[in-house]
Amino acid sequence: MVVSIHSGYVPQQAKIVRTEQMTAAEKLFELQIPDGPLGHEPGQFVEVSILGVGEAPISVSSGPNRGPNFELIVRKAGSVTEAMHQLGAGAVMGIRGPYGHGFPMERLKGSDLLFIGGGIGLVPLRSAIHYALDHRSDYGRVVILYGTKNPNEILFRREIEEWKQRDDVEFFMTVDRGSPDWKGNVGVITTLIPPLDLNITNTTAIVCGPPIMYKFVIMALRSKRLEHDQIYVSLERHMKCGLGKCGHCQINHLYVCQDGPVFLYSDIQDVKEAL
Ligand SMILES: Cc1cc2nc3c(=O)[nH]c(=O)nc-3n(C[C@H](O)[C@H](O)[C@H](O)COP(=O)(O)OP(=O)(O)OC[C@H]3O[C@@H](n4cnc5c(N)ncnc54)[C@H](O)[C@@H]3O)c2cc1C
Ligand code: FES
Repeated sequence: MVVSIHSGYVPQQAKIVRTEQMTAAEKLFELQIPDGPLGHEPGQFVEVSILGVGEAPISVSSGPNRGPNFELIVRKAGSVTEAMHQLGAGAVMGIRGPYGHGFPMERLKGSDLLFIGGGIGLVPLRSAIHYALDHRSDYGRVVILYGTKNPNEILFRREIEEWKQRDDVEFFMTVDRGSPDWKGNVGVITTLIPPLDLNITNTTAIVCGPPIMYKFVIMALRSKRLEHDQIYVSLERHMKCGLGKCGHCQINHLYVCQDGPVFLYSDIQDVKEAL
């Protein structure tokens, strides 16, 4: 079989322009591709390849309007992500994509946006947050809830300070377990939801986090009377092709790589094992 360079199977070379160690386990990569920008939608992912090691799906974390380069935040989890962590500025990695359905930012114009990110779940949400802030007058309130296990795992510390300074962003965060010098909230992310005063008819929740978080966040949102079709979730599954061909990411009739990773909760609430 002859594989065309435009087929989607062939990676293009992306040059690492800058890296930043964000926490002990997570590293930021700013990447440049020859014909940039990447042209992604917030919530989409790319397949990143390291020659001789393998490929891994990674969300694009920067907004599409933030210049020609794009950013990935990678948690060291196994062979590919560990190999990525060895790379610094000037090195190259392979990139396929962007793939999948992202957050429908156009359709959400006029809506109040409630972002709920647990742990590394803030990584894909950040792209949508950038989009909303870059088109600020198109949206109503922007409320961001962020939770991590402990203060050492907090990502985007500088950016969070900027969000806190803005009077058009409401930012709240919590950690499951504090530390002696932690002065903020302690408790799971759902504890941030009951105090919110939401305009229920005009709010869309955008949720991404570890699987355990979804059930409790959705219960908390339901008790605020948010309907299932007002909640978007981004799912993570084992993936190989990223293109709807191999079936690795399949849940019943859904291919998470192609139908998702972003889903309207009402579309998957009856799909067994989706959440
Ligand atoms: C759509 C999507 C977006 C993602 N975005 C990011 C991101 O922005 N940043 C990031 O750091 N990671 C992200 N991930 C997860 C990332 O793809 C995996 O951590 C990576 O594939 C692990 O590859 P590896 O070779 O380093 O580890 P492996 O050696 O393959 O695996 C190490 C461990 O991680 C588990 N694992 C592998 N893939 C997944 C998965 N998809 N879900 C749950 N567990 C997994 C394995 O079972 C194993 O226990 C995303 C995954 C998906 C599906
Ligand atoms: S990853 Fe191959 S079909 Fe989804």
